[in-house]
This record gives sequence, C-alpha cells and structure tokens, in this order.
Amino acid sequence: MRKPLVAGNWKMNGTRESARTLLDGIKAGAMAVNGAELAVCVPFVFLQQVQEMLAGSPIAWGGQDLSKEPKGAFTGDVSAAMLLEFGCRYVIVGHSERRTLHGESDAEVAEKTAAALEAGLTPIVCVGETLEEREQGVTNDVVGRQLDAVLARVGSAGLGRCVVAYEPVWAIGTGRTATPEQAQEVHAFIRARVAADDAAVAEGLKILYGGSMKPDNAAELCAKPDIDGGLIGGASLVAEDFLAIGRAAGGN
Ligand code: 13P
Repeated sequence: MRKPLVAGNWKMNGTRESARTLLDGIKAGAMAVNGAELAVCVPFVFLQQVQEMLAGSPIAWGGQDLSKEPKGAFTGDVSAAMLLEFGCRYVIVGHSERRTLHGESDAEVAEKTAAALEAGLTPIVCVGETLEEREQGVTNDVVGRQLDAVLARVGSAGLGRCVVAYEPVWAIGTGRTATPEQAQEVHAFIRARVAADDAAVAEGLKILYGGSMKPDNAAELCAKPDIDGGLIGGASLVAEDFLAIGRAAGGN
C-alpha cells in the first residue's frame, strides 16, 4: 500500500513571523493526521527556521527548486547538497510556474531530477497540461512527454525514488479543481506509462494531485485508486486547512 503524502507548496509567500505561526499550527495538529505523511516545501530563506522548528516532528520539509549543477558560478541558484544540509527530504522539480515563468524545458527538469536523486533527495516531479492543451485533447501527449523525459534520464529505478505530482495548469490557483474522475484518468495514465517499463515501480509510485485541492474536495480526490495525496498551494498557508487535507488524504 502506498502511504499518502500531503505536501504544502508555500510558493513565494510568508514572513519569518507568519512562517512561525503556520509551522506551530501544523505541528500542533500533525499527530491527529493518521495514515498520511505531511511535508512543507518552503522558500529557501525559511529552511533554517523550518529545520529548527520541525526537527524531531513527523513533518518533513523541502525546497521548491534546485540547480542541476553541484556548485559554481550560478548566481541565485541553490544546489541539492545545500538543501540536504538544511535537512530537506523533498524538492519540487518542474513545477508549472518554473516551466512557464522560467522557461524550464523537459530536459532541464530531467537534469534537476537526476541531481536531486544523486544527492539523496526525493524529487516531487510535476507534470500537467494547460487549458488549451486539454481542450485540444492532448493531455496525455503532454503529460507523457514530460514523464518520458524524466524516465529517459533517470530510468524506472530512478523514477521509483521520486514522487510524481499531476498538476493541471488550469486548476492551479484558480479554484477550478479537476474532477476526481478527470484527475484519476490522468493518474492512471501516468501509472500505466511507468508500468510499461516496470510494473513494481509503477505500483509503488506515489502520484499526488495538485490544483486547488482544499479541505472540501480532498477526500473525494484522494479516494480515487491512483491518487496518493496532494501537492497543496493556497490551502497549505492555513494550518487548519492543510491539516484537514492531511486527515482527508489519510482517510480520517
Ligand atoms: P493551489 O493549491 O493554490 O491551486 O496550487 C497548487 C500548486 O501549484 C501546488 O504546487
């Protein structure tokens, strides 16, 4: 059985003060989240604070991006080793906001995934189609292409050490969630694609849904057989909402 994961993606939000309040709130309710793992992926500048506050708690943490390079003249970038030094378990790779706003290609996302794996981090690899692509009926082509780039670089054994997040771009921050059926269809497609390479890896692979997941839709989404939790944006900034999603994903 795959244990669900509910990971918060804080994006570029928060202050030291609000981060402290949010982390205190999450910590206070984490013990009541049975059956799902919790993680927060925070802006780099909060990692030290997060490490200090969450060490010894059941909540994991991670970054939102990393460099594909190990070190050197890459102004503004952060390496996998740096994330590890701050206790990160996870790192989000290939979020649609990185792909569109920073022009990250499938090949670059694959390189970053490899860099994270080599360092021992668990990449949360994001895939997903735009509204235009969905309306053109090419959702599976797009998601398949994004997934294949990573598979070609790290192999199915490497992918087996990743988490995949399906995030339809049209559902991110819009309040417009994919229906559980729409999401399940793509999740099943992803799992089948991986199974074509390696059935055991596909069976164990966590595939999260992301895109306006909230306390009131999380249980229905997570009840689908191929949805193994969520990657949460807006609702991860409110402790009680994030915890409620965790409880729903864990089936309690
Ligand atoms: P929202 O939950 O705000 O739609 O964001 C989803 C997301 O992009 C998580 O990575």
